[in-house]
Amino acid sequence: MGFQPGYDALAELYAETFPAPFSNPLQRHAIGAFIEHVDDSTTAGAVLDVGCGPGHVTAELTAAGLDTIGVDPSTEMVRIARSAHPGLRFVLDDARLTAPELADTHVAAIVARFSLIHVPPDSVPEVLTDWAARMPRGGVVMVAGQSTDVDEIVEFDHVVTPGWRWHPDRMSAALATAGFDEEWRTVKCADDAHRFPEFHLLAVRL
Ligand SMILES: C[S@@+](CC[C@H](N)C(=O)[O-])C[C@H]1O[C@@H](n2cnc3c(N)ncnc32)[C@H](O)[C@@H]1O
Repeated sequence: MGFQPGYDALAELYAETFPAPFSNPLQRHAIGAFIEHVDDSTTAGAVLDVGCGPGHVTAELTAAGLDTIGVDPSTEMVRIARSAHPGLRFVLDDARLTAPELADTHVAAIVARFSLIHVPPDSVPEVLTDWAARMPRGGVVMVAGQSTDVDEIVEFDHVVTPGWRWHPDRMSAALATAGFDEEWRTVKCADDAHRFPEFHLLAVRL
């Protein structure tokens, strides 16, 4: 899980292909709703943008006033993020959040947009349990990823590195097992530019 040679090789292309953080209105509104949930929660601490890529969502969250740290296992993605957003903090790490720089970080919220899809499904329960262990009651998590039409998890031919599509029911169940309670989800239908549906799912630490 620890390195991302696939994203290292394509990081420049990724940043050029997706210069803006949102490719449809629902993505923007989901991040907006996440920001409101974090603002409304009583938990103090940092927001981690796990699998932050070029850091554009990290920048949106910071601009909204959240103390945000971008985290990504791709050396090239972190380099691009630091270069594009020199005032922001980016840490080289994967979804397990084991980097020493994060050891003393109090975590109030985590967003993982199209990044948990790259964690092998067998490892996701442990990752979510670790997140829950680091967050106080009321902490907010939002996961986004490519979805399936029926209740399953399937590997798909992601262009960069292995990826898995999760039905939101499966992600919700995995979050529940780890100690998070789903509050809402969105599902965007597939379209000409996106061959699979996409979900955003927000849950709160019990
Ligand atoms: C599709 S990009 C999404 C970037 C950004 N979150 C966004 O929404 O634009 C996927 C990112 O997940 C990162 N990634 C891959 N494997 C990961 C892992 N095991 N843990 C955390 N991030 C991972 C990649 O390096 C890449 O930057």
